Parts: sequence; C-alpha cells; structure tokens
Amino acid sequence: MRINSLQEYHEAYSLSVEKPEEFWANIANEFDWIKPFTKVLDWSFDDYSVKWFEDGQMNITANALDRHLKTIPDQAAIVYEPNEPGDEAITLTYRQLHARVCKFSNVLKAQGVKKGDRVCIYMPMIPELAIAVLACARIGAIHSVVFGGFSAQSISDRINDSLCKIVITTDGAVRGNKTIPMKETVDDALLSCPSVETVIVKTRTKTPVSMLKGRDLWWEEEEAQASADCAPEPMNAEDPLFILYTSGSTGKPKGVVHTCGGYMVYTAYTFANVFQYNPGDVFFCTADIGWITGHSYLVYGPLLNGAISVLFEGIPTYPDAGRFWDIIKRHQVNIFYTAPTAIRSLMGFGDEVLEGKDLSSLRVLGSVGEPINEEAWQWYHEKIGQGNCPIVDTWWQTETGGLMISPIAGITPLKPAFATLPLPGVQPILVDENGKEIEGNGVNGNLCIKYPWPSIIRTTYGDHERCKTTYFSTYPGLYFTGDGCMRDEDGYYRITGRVDDVMNISGHRIGTAEVENAINMHTGVIESAVVGFPHDVKGQGIYAYVICEHPTINDDLTRKDILATVARVIGPIAKPDKIQFVTGLPKTRSGKIMRRILRKVAEGEFGSLGDTSTLLDPSVVDSIIAGAL
Ligand code: WTA
Repeated sequence: MRINSLQEYHEAYSLSVEKPEEFWANIANEFDWIKPFTKVLDWSFDDYSVKWFEDGQMNITANALDRHLKTIPDQAAIVYEPNEPGDEAITLTYRQLHARVCKFSNVLKAQGVKKGDRVCIYMPMIPELAIAVLACARIGAIHSVVFGGFSAQSISDRINDSLCKIVITTDGAVRGNKTIPMKETVDDALLSCPSVETVIVKTRTKTPVSMLKGRDLWWEEEEAQASADCAPEPMNAEDPLFILYTSGSTGKPKGVVHTCGGYMVYTAYTFANVFQYNPGDVFFCTADIGWITGHSYLVYGPLLNGAISVLFEGIPTYPDAGRFWDIIKRHQVNIFYTAPTAIRSLMGFGDEVLEGKDLSSLRVLGSVGEPINEEAWQWYHEKIGQGNCPIVDTWWQTETGGLMISPIAGITPLKPAFATLPLPGVQPILVDENGKEIEGNGVNGNLCIKYPWPSIIRTTYGDHERCKTTYFSTYPGLYFTGDGCMRDEDGYYRITGRVDDVMNISGHRIGTAEVENAINMHTGVIESAVVGFPHDVKGQGIYAYVICEHPTINDDLTRKDILATVARVIGPIAKPDKIQFVTGLPKTRSGKIMRRILRKVAEGEFGSLGDTSTLLDPSVVDSIIAGAL
C-alpha cells in the first residue's frame, strides 16, 4: 500500500488507471473483512451509481480499533489538547479508546438505536465527539455530525432532512475565552424536530441546562452502566457510514452520503501515502470533526493506520497566536495539517510569536480547504517547516471523501501553490464551458473526474436526483467538482477556486443562495444578492447587496440586525463582511441577477464591468458603484 519513491508513484498511478479493480482490490485486501468481497466495482456516471466491494462485509471500527489491539494496544490513539493550555492533556490508548467506543455503542443500543438509524452529533472538539462517531460506526448507525458553530435552525434543518432519532451533545463548549451554549441550542432546534426521541448530554462546562424527563440523559451516567463488550456490526461495504451536510450553488445544504468499505480503503490509503506516516509519528490535524477534513484525517484515516492523532479543542489565537506552535512542541508533532486561512492569520501576528518556539519535531506540513497563496506557502515553508519540511497542498472535497490531487510528502517535487499531481485512482480532466476536453498542458478549465475512486459520494441523502443533477449533469459522463483549475507545462494542477455560486470563506463552504435566504428573512429586506470577494486572511469574504423596503434610519444598526439574523439562521461563520444597501440589482431581462458585475464591484474593479447592455436597467449599475465608493 505504501509508495516509497517517485517511480513507485508513477507505477501505482499507471496500474490504477489500467487495472483499477486489481489496484484497489489489492489495497482493500490489506484490511480485515468479515466476509471477503468478490466483486470490486460496478459503476455508471450516466445513470449515477457506484458500488465498491459490494458483496464484502466489514466494520470500519474493527479496522480502526480492534485490529490494533493485537499490535499496539498501549500506544496513544487520540491525544486531547484542551482549550486551556494549563489543563492536562488526555491520552486515550487504542485499548482505552476501544473500550470507551464499545461502552458508548452499548449506550446507543440501550436507547434503541439500530443499524441504519441516523444519529445527529453536535459537540465541541472533545474526545467524546470521536467516541460518539466511532460508536455509531460500530453499531451501523449513520452519524450526521453538525459543526458546533451552526445555529439551532441549521441543526433542525439537518435533523429533519435525515430524520435523526437521537442527538448527542454537551452542556456547553469552551473556545478561547468564550463559553458557548450547546444543549440550549439543541433544545431550540428540537422544538421543530419530531423524529428525535433521545438526547444524550456530555458535561463539559457545567453550564446549567434543562434536562427533559423521558428524553434527555447524561452521557456519564449511561456510560457508567454500560458494558465494554460490543461486537462490531457486520456492514455491507455499500451500507452508509455517515451523512455530512455541505453547501452547494442552490437550495439548502445537502447530505453527502459516504459508505463503509470504499471510504475506509481510500481514507486509509491516502493518509498513509500523502503524509508518509511512519509508526509512532504524531499527527495534528487542526480541522474540526464537524467538517470532512476532521472525519477523514483526524478520526478515520489516522486510526485506520494505527496513528497518534491530536484533537485540539481550542482556537489558534488563545491564549496567544503561538498556540499551535506550543502544541507542536508539547506533543512532539511530526505532521501538521491546517488551512491557509489559519496560516495567513497567524502570519499576520508577526514572526516575534515564533521566537523561542521549538518546531524541530516537524517533518511534514499539509494544507487544505482553499487555494494557498504563494506568500503564505513560503512563510509556512520557511518559518514553520524551517525550510526542510515538504508541504502537501491537498485538494479534495466533502464529496470526494479523501484527498484527490496532492503531492506525496518528500516524493513529489513541489511547486508553491500547486496541488501537483493526482493520487493513484484519480483521473482528472479539464473541460471547457461546453464540456469538451481540454487536452495538453499549459491550459485552464473546469475540473472534472472521469472515473470513480472508492470514496466518491454515493448519493445526497433522500434525494438521489439531486446528486445526479448537481455532480453528473453539467458534463454528462463526468463528475464535476465545481472548481476551476489550471494544468501547467509540467502537467501540474493548480486549483483556482470555485466556478459556481459556492463561496469559500476561511476554508468553509457557504452557498450564496443560503446567505441570501437568511438575509431575506430579516424584516424589511426585500431582496439581496451575495457574492464572494478577495479577503486577505479569509481567502474570500462575503459581500451582500441588500434592498430594503424603506430607506433605513440607521444603516449601521440595520447592518448589525441583519448580521444577527444571518447568525441565527445559519451561524456566525456566514455573517457578511460587507453590507451595501442598494435600490436595485443588476438583472437581465429574464430576471437573472448578473453576479459577474456584483463581483467586480465587490472587488473594487469599477472600470472593467464588461457588457451591461443586456441589463433590464443599466443605470442600476451606476448607482451601485456610487454606493460602493
Ligand atoms: C476548495 C474540504 C484549493 C475547493 C476538504 C473545493 C481547495 C472545496 C483545496 C471543498 C486546495 C479544498 N486548494 N482549493 N488544496 N482544498 N479546496 O467540501 O474549492 O469543505 O471544491 O472540502 O474547497 O470544500 P469542502
């Protein structure tokens, strides 16, 4: 499974293209199967369906936990670094993690949770979040983790979309010097979630919470009574493992579904290879488990490889902007994986913060979530990697389950700001607007993938048509990523950003339509249009053009009210950075908003707005520009 040289990479890549089934079967056979598979792949991108290892049975936790009990039972699996730097870090060995997962599996079973049931998890970054995820996987329940920063409304939308039976949460959360309510937010969400029968609450902040008789239970009390014996549920490789909601161009976030077998094989394979993980290495992924990066490269990928994974509860700037570097020293981190937005923000605090920090344990650095600009890449390389750690700029998506285009650390020759080459099993192609393949090098196009890999999205929960139209209808026969991409003279790939109406704010995906809907819910707002604009730290910021019913009496106050509405409807991460009040929006005669113009204005490029003659009322543009100045 392990690639050790550039030549081995090329060999693996060729085999994965010429004989994909043989290639992936060999890798899959390195895992423990309850019943071996005989069929490797069945697929169609035309009438979308993909099945890997279809008739095999397995359980991902048997591979992520039980398998290591024979070899490394007393090695750390998860190292929990609490929010307060003075608080003791807690290590869970594989044996301990296994026991706690089994216990919590029995807690879930005692509440009547069965294979196929959906479980919503809304928790801060504490070990119990990983335990809850793994316990679901062990008994075959489908976890749906909702990022702890989302609002009650977002939680209830997600619960109702997949009809979750149970919610797992905490009393509160601590992030930096803030205490945040969690149970209270869940309580608000559950006012409109009839499917939920049980809520399990782990204590974290000792915040007073209301516990509803017959519905709410304390995690600690239930765990104390549970047995540590729980056999892993035999799962078909194509049974769903989890749902994770993500934003698209239109409508509400959709539930991306990943299945057990393919996801296991692909996350484990990519983790081992891209990061060149060696036994005993300490791996620190800073992503929250509420996002795909946390699912695949904090929990599953590392544990499947018997790795040591650091789980950090806090934020990079508490108690000061040196926190990540202190954690690296404290836990002797060898591989560090973070997002460009964090790098840019920490870079902004100046190099003094780095004085006296010992980063000598680092061997590999990673970047994920958004394009990394060259300046940030250089700083990361020089200051954090001390000039001698390869940076793996990993391009992938919630829908891809695992890393897709990325260097292999220490093996692929790097180029700053390039995701470089496709991993084995990944067949990228660039197409023009009409779906025609753009061949050769030194070209730009829309990035598609033409062949399935094991952890490709299987469906969007409850709406397979939506999955087909979103990913497989723009360019028939191809999976469309939504990203623009260049392939340079050397055949290296550089992702240039989304080409659809999805924004990437601090590495978080947010749909323009979602934010518009939230703004439009504010009283007095008639209509709004949202675009992304370049932002020094966040990568992209959110710019909202808003039409109100009456001229506002106090613009600043109305802006604040709108921000509060967006935070309530979606969550604080979706709050616009700029709100401009306008009297009209640039619409075509057919009523479509010309976002191209709004993007230019948001970028401050008033001179190059292009053709505005197809607008219903071209004078709208002048007044928008006047208002933006
Ligand atoms: C963007 C996060 C450039 C891209 C794993 C993609 C990137 C979206 C990179 C997916 C990268 C992710 N370089 N852009 N290395 N990694 N992206 O679903 O636009 O939260 O489509 O998955 O992030 O975001 P998602």
